[in-house]
Amino acid sequence: MRRRTFLKNGMLGIGALAGLPGARGAFAAPEPAAAGRENRVGEPIIVSTWSHGMAANNAAARILQVSGAGMTAVVRGIMIPEADPKVTSVGRGGYPNIDGVVELDAAVMNGNTLEVGAVAGMQGILHPIAVAEKVMDESPHTLLVGAGAKQFALSKGFTETNLLTDGAKKAWEARRGGLKYKPAGSGADPDNHDTIGSVLMDASGSIFAGCSTSGAAWKLPGRVGDSPIVGHGLYCDSDVGGVVATGLGEEFAKICGSFAVIELMRQGVEPTEAIRQVLERAVKRDGRNKGRLLAMVALRRDGTVGAGSTTPGFQIAVTRGTKHELTDIAPLYPPKKKD
Ligand code: GLY
Repeated sequence: MRRRTFLKNGMLGIGALAGLPGARGAFAAPEPAAAGRENRVGEPIIVSTWSHGMAANNAAARILQVSGAGMTAVVRGIMIPEADPKVTSVGRGGYPNIDGVVELDAAVMNGNTLEVGAVAGMQGILHPIAVAEKVMDESPHTLLVGAGAKQFALSKGFTETNLLTDGAKKAWEARRGGLKYKPAGSGADPDNHDTIGSVLMDASGSIFAGCSTSGAAWKLPGRVGDSPIVGHGLYCDSDVGGVVATGLGEEFAKICGSFAVIELMRQGVEPTEAIRQVLERAVKRDGRNKGRLLAMVALRRDGTVGAGSTTPGFQIAVTRGTKHELTDIAPLYPPKKKD
């Protein structure tokens, strides 16, 4: 059931993929409930960014139904847009860097243990979110980059693949003539819908987060945005909630956007208000951020969902149990109407 509603700066009252080497299966055990962190809402909740978050939520919900394993559900959900060539900001089909090479960033976080895993600037591997999970589970590190990240993925049985689709190549070629560095997400690239990010609270009250992106279109080689950096593009803590960001990563980096939202929520600020305050901080620092895409969605551990965006067009996918809903988020800074 898919419903679409409009949210005006307010709070919502509210198959496993084959071929992954040694990935936690859909039958991985759920996290044990931590004392004082029971899910008092009575059903799992998943929130994701953008309309491609609907497919991610749908897959994640199915994993939850089978096994109840929250981290696995986040990863398997995000793998759907990563594999979708129509999504031009994530995985295969993501727009390349200025040299025409697709470089991917992703991260996962476990809100019970605060463990994290991430990869950045990784080329030629389809599912960076699954590699990020491996970094968390099977390496002593939290972040691997570039050739090292790819080498790690290959050592874990991931295979090399071409990520540059004909469509993304054409878009890059069309821009190549006059291309100079101009990050996507500035509002000037309406087709580049940006990061998939998901936050999930499972039946036990454990909270998990993940995000994956090809980053800013036409970026400089080696550029890394907010998504694989814990505290910038994502953060979760099962005592508080979780948050993911989408938009211009450089600006989230300057304000530790996701961590800032969680810390405001920890102090009792409502999720939507916490996001508003953090986005306002970015705008206060640089007025141009009013016109650049900076958006976030948060889930508090009592089930309250909050969201905010500087610019129009942001959507969030919310799944409660088996009910999926896509919601438009009104911008904090609507563009001035031209006479
Ligand atoms: N938010 C994605 C990026 O800036 O890379």
